[in-house]
Order: sequence, then C-alpha cells, then structure tokens
Amino acid sequence: MSKNIVVLVSGGGTNLQALIKAEKRGKLGDGKITCVISSKADAYALTRAKKAHIKTRTLVRKDYADIASYSRAMRDALLEEQADLIVYAGFMTILDESVCDAFQNRMINVHPALIPSFCGKGFYGLHVHEEALKKGVKVSGATVHFVTAECDAGPIILQKAVEVRDDDTPETLQKRIMEQAEWKILPKAVQLFCDGKIMVENNKTYLR
Ligand code: GAR
Repeated sequence: MSKNIVVLVSGGGTNLQALIKAEKRGKLGDGKITCVISSKADAYALTRAKKAHIKTRTLVRKDYADIASYSRAMRDALLEEQADLIVYAGFMTILDESVCDAFQNRMINVHPALIPSFCGKGFYGLHVHEEALKKGVKVSGATVHFVTAECDAGPIILQKAVEVRDDDTPETLQKRIMEQAEWKILPKAVQLFCDGKIMVENNKTYLR
C-alpha cells in the first residue's frame, strides 16, 4: 500500500512542484501525493496541483475565529484524507498541538535557513533572507524538520548550506537557496520518510 502524502501550501508552490517532479521520477519511495490543501484561495500552488491532477482543498485561515478552530478543521481534513505524511511546502500558518499531537513525527516542514538561525515566529518567506543579509552571514541554506507545536523547533532531518554573495538581495538569495537546497532536500526527506529510514529519539533524528 502506498503512503498518502498531503501537502500544505500558501503561495507559489515551487516546493510542491519539486515534490510532483520527484514523484513522477519514482523518487518518493512508496509515497503518493494524494491531496494539496491551501490556506489561501488564490495560491498559485493550487494551479500546479490541478495541472498534475492532484485533489485540492482550500482552508482559509480568515474563515475561522482563531487558530484553535482552524487547527481543528485542518486536523479533521487531514484525517479525512487519511494522511500518512503531511508536508508543509511554503505553508505559512502555525497550527496548534491538536494537529501536531495527532500527527506526531508525521509532519515535516521546509524552512529557508539553517535552523536554529533565522527561524521561529515571524521568520518566513523573504523575511528570513532579509534578516540573514542584515546579519551579514556568509552561509545560509535550508532545513527540513519534523513539525512540533513549537515553531521551527522539531527534530532536524536534513540541512544543506548555500553560499551568500556580497551582491545578494533577499530575492536572489531566496532563489539560490530554493534551487540549491530546498528543492533537493525536501523530496529527499520525503523519500527517506516513505522508505521508513528516519528514526527519532530525544528530539534528534537518525537516518538509516
Ligand atoms: C520557501 O522558501 C519555503 O522554504 C518558505 O517559503 C517559501 C515558499 O515557496 N517557507 C517558510 O518560510 C516557512 N517558515 P514555495 O511556495 O514556492 O514553495
């Protein structure tokens, strides 16, 4: 039986595209992307999913009074979809423990920096790269990690470093980190998960 992968998105969906491509090449192990759920009705990621004939759903954050009711609705949708693995691919909402506990060690996120640098609440999308450039780091990169109720603090699965150049803008740095790191390590982590190769112990992962 293949594993149902549900991908959560909010924006452009280039990481979703990398996953779709990997699945087509047989590089997601036992995994199959069965549904894409967006927190925004106009996310281009939804168009990418439809083009690939993947089921889509939209759960708009603003339609819910608070994060608790939004999280419950998301948990119910994920249970309905019989998700074995949930991938945050540019998903910009922090869900509470009702979701994280229901799917412990079965939700992964890609973050556009080397955690624990430039992460946590407020660090998302281009802001991450703005802060990295402000600080003057010479190396940044991306991290794939398990999602826990504490933002960007779950066990790290894979990381990849990317050089920062003197003439970088947040946009050029974002693009290089996506191309050289995110689009590679996110599908790889999904494959490792689907092949049962990730062990978690004391908030650390061990890859077999
Ligand atoms: C990616 O760079 C992803 O790492 C980042 O948003 C971008 C989404 O791009 N995610 C976060 O900042 C989450 N904290 P995409 O929609 O093209 O995949």
